Amino acid sequence: MQASSPPLLVLGIESSCDETGVALVRTQGSAVPTLLAHALHSQIEMHQAYGGVVPELASRDHIRRVLPLTECVLRDAGRTLAEVDVVAFTRGPGLAGALLVGAGVACALGAALDVPVLGVHHLEGHLLSPFLSSDPPAFPFVALLVSGGHTQLMRVDGVGRYVLLGETIDDAAGEAFDKSAKLLGLGYPGGPALSRLAEQGDAAAFKLPRPLLHSGNLDFSFAGLKTAVMTQAKKLGEALPARTADLAASTEAAIVEVLVKKSLAALAQTGLQRLVVAGGVGANRHLRQQLNAACAARGVRVHYPELHLCTDNGAMIALAGAMRVQAGCEAPQRHYAFDVKPRWPLDQLAAG
Ligand code: KG4
Ligand code: ZN
Repeated sequence: MQASSPPLLVLGIESSCDETGVALVRTQGSAVPTLLAHALHSQIEMHQAYGGVVPELASRDHIRRVLPLTECVLRDAGRTLAEVDVVAFTRGPGLAGALLVGAGVACALGAALDVPVLGVHHLEGHLLSPFLSSDPPAFPFVALLVSGGHTQLMRVDGVGRYVLLGETIDDAAGEAFDKSAKLLGLGYPGGPALSRLAEQGDAAAFKLPRPLLHSGNLDFSFAGLKTAVMTQAKKLGEALPARTADLAASTEAAIVEVLVKKSLAALAQTGLQRLVVAGGVGANRHLRQQLNAACAARGVRVHYPELHLCTDNGAMIALAGAMRVQAGCEAPQRHYAFDVKPRWPLDQLAAG
C-alpha cells in the first residue's frame, strides 16, 4: 500500500471458539493501523457448567452477540456502518459452526454495504496482535504462538511470510494447562486458574517431565506431562487438597521451562534478536518473567500483546485484515459466497 493511499476502515469479526469479538481499525498509509474500538463477549460462564466448550452452544451465542457488539463498536468509534471499507472475519482454524457465524455475518454485511470481505487466519491475528501494543515489534522475528489449540515456533519475515520452525506433536501448551487444571479440580478454562494457584505453591515440590526438552529440534510434546500430573495426583490421594498449589506450581514450571528453552533455541537457530509471544498462554505471568529474564541476558527484545488482547478478540482480526491489505497480500474480494477452514496450517497462507 502506498504511503498516500486513502485511509481504510476495517471491521473485524472473531468467532472461532468461545469469544465473540468485534473491532474497528483504521489504516494510515503503511503505518501500523490504529485500533478505534473493540468489544468482546466471553462465553466462559455459559460453558463452565459443562467443563469445556460446547460447540453448538458456542455457535448459537455468537449469533446472539455479533450484531449488538458491532453496533457497540461503531458507537464507541463514532462511526457508522456506511463508513466501513472492508469487513474481515476469522475464516479458521476453529470450530466449524462458530466460524460460520462470523463468516456469514461478515459476508452479509459486505454484500449489503457493497464492500469487500477478507477471511483472516486466527493465528495470524494472534501473531500480529503485539503490533497494537505500546511496544510494537519490527520484522523479522521469532514468534512463539501459544494458544489453547496450538503451540508453534515460527520465523516471521513480514506479513504473510511465515516459516514453521517447530510445533507440538500432541497437546498444545494451553491444553496442558487446561487438562492439568481439570485434573486438579480447577474448572474451565484452567490456564488462568492454575496459574493463580501456582503463585502460592512451590515449583520445585514435584519433579515433572520436560518433554522433548533435549530433542535437538523445535518440536514440543505436552501429552506426557498431563499423564504425569494425573499419576502424581493419584499418588497423593487424600493429601492432594493440601498440595494442589505445589502441584500447580510444578506443572506451570515444567510447561514454562520447555517454552522458554525452545524459544531460545529458535532464536539461536535463526540468529534473530527479537521474540514475539502471542496467544492465550502468553498472558501467563511466570512465562513472561522467565522469558524476559532469559532474553534480557542475551540482548533479545521480547514483545507481547497487551494483556487484554492475549486471548481471543476482534481487534487482532481487524488488525491482521488491515495489515494484509496494506502489505498487498491479497485484494479483499467482493465475493460473498463463503467457506470456513476449521483446520488451516498458518504456513500455508499465501504471501503477497
Ligand atoms: O488464544 P486463546 O484465547 O484461544 C485459542 O485460540 O485457543 O488461548 C486460550 C488458552 C487456554 O488454554 C487458556 O487456558 C490459556 O490460553 N490461558 C492461560 C492463561 N490465560 C489464558 N494459560 C496460562 N496462564 C494464563 N494466565
Ligand atoms: Zn486464539
